[in-house]
Amino acid sequence: MADPDSRAGLAYFDPAILDWTARVHAGHDAPLDRAFDAPGRHGMPAIQLGPSEAKLVEILLTLVGARKAVEIGTLAGYSAIRIARALAEGGHLWSIESDPRHAAVAQENLSIAALLRRVTVVEGAGLDVLPSLEKHGPFDAVFIDADKANYDAYGRWAARNLRKGGLLLGDNAFLFGRLLEKSSEAAAMRRFHEEAALLFDTVCIPTPDGLLLGVKR
Ligand code: DHB
Ligand code: MG
Repeated sequence: MADPDSRAGLAYFDPAILDWTARVHAGHDAPLDRAFDAPGRHGMPAIQLGPSEAKLVEILLTLVGARKAVEIGTLAGYSAIRIARALAEGGHLWSIESDPRHAAVAQENLSIAALLRRVTVVEGAGLDVLPSLEKHGPFDAVFIDADKANYDAYGRWAARNLRKGGLLLGDNAFLFGRLLEKSSEAAAMRRFHEEAALLFDTVCIPTPDGLLLGVKR
């Protein structure tokens, strides 16, 4: 960013450029490779963060000095590895996954990354599980990446359970290009944006599907 073309939405990256820059800046070790490839091996949807986005999440958590974090949507544990590695000494990540098969794959990948002691994969639906985590708060970071129709509720939970200066992140903030459509899911995602903007210092980072970033006031 920016010139008139890029301001209007033209993206200068293509798969080759994305791949080259990810390899230079967001290089994987064996556990990250394994977790990234796990959805393909296990017949799971390959909807994990891109390598550069996951590295961005790791760096952002490092910058706020995160020690306690919550993730909504574990999938195979790829982003959980990035988050857990960012945590300060003695830190912990609670990562929520509603599909028991995904949770099992994530446990295996976290074990291989030697992170089982730093990460608890909590099985269940986000809205059911979050109240049980409140006793561990306040948290330093909340990463929302599942169940798009409830992002507004997750954002409100984050606002109540993050410390001042804590980090809110929401993947898919453009809702796959449907953000401005007339649907209850799009309305919930717009409320997530609007309510976050009232309580956090916010920006929607224009990753391919938008990454909402908020720092709690
Ligand atoms: C989907 C979910 C995601 O979190 C994502 O980043 C991409 C796709 C999905 O549910 O299809
Ligand atoms: Mg996502």
